[in-house]
Amino acid sequence: MFTIAVANTKGGAGKTTLATTLAAHYAARGLDTALGDLDLQQSSLGWLRRRPSDLPRIRGVDLEEEGAKPRKKTEILVVDCVAAMSRDVVKDVVKQADVIVIPVLPSAFDEDGTRRFIDQLGGLKPIRKNKRAVAFVGNRVRLRTRAAEQLEHFLEDLGFPKVATLRDTQLFAQAAAEGKAIQELTSRRAYDHVMDLQPLIDFIEETRLAG
Ligand SMILES: Nc1ncnc2c1ncn2[C@@H]1O[C@H](COP(=O)(O)OP(=O)(O)OP(=O)(O)O)[C@@H](O)[C@H]1O
Ligand SMILES: [Mg+2]
Repeated sequence: MFTIAVANTKGGAGKTTLATTLAAHYAARGLDTALGDLDLQQSSLGWLRRRPSDLPRIRGVDLEEEGAKPRKKTEILVVDCVAAMSRDVVKDVVKQADVIVIPVLPSAFDEDGTRRFIDQLGGLKPIRKNKRAVAFVGNRVRLRTRAAEQLEHFLEDLGFPKVATLRDTQLFAQAAAEGKAIQELTSRRAYDHVMDLQPLIDFIEETRLAG
């Protein structure tokens, strides 16, 4: 099983949005895919309940529940982390994950929160020893703004690559409301945003195939 954790202890950065999008991507490719929810609010599991039954199947795993595990056949597990993760949970997520994807919004508050998370990650052995693939995703970015430039600058110094930039668009919320991922919308407007995800998918695939 290949495990992708989407994490940032800063709230509202886009963890659930990215986790559901990645799970839908792998399910569409025919891989046995599970979506693990670490959040008591169960946003990911709620999304799965809204998911139309004719779309590729994703199994939900309530990781908050004692002893809950994805079934043995699972090929891809995407873990939607909660913002309020204790140190122990962060440690556990890092131990289990093959790839850690960190969405970050362009704002000073998000920078502060993300910096704290990165400091915490940096103290863990698998990260220190370069045993985990870690990548940033700039999220809700308005291209060619000062905020976008500032985010680039901020991420440059943190020691992990920024592999993708997702723009701010209502289409993510629109898709989520229907239990879909953005690539499952038929709207032509969605296409450009789906293309923005490709470098992230390439990065994850490279890690998966190397493993
Ligand atoms: N690229 C985007 N463009 C526009 N809106 C977005 C984008 N990404 C996420 N959002 C919206 O931002 C809000 C927060 O996103 P999301 O719930 O995925 O964040 P989160 O990190 O899971 O939050 P929490 O820390 O509360 O779990 C949602 O309303 C979502 O639809
Ligand atoms: Mg969430």
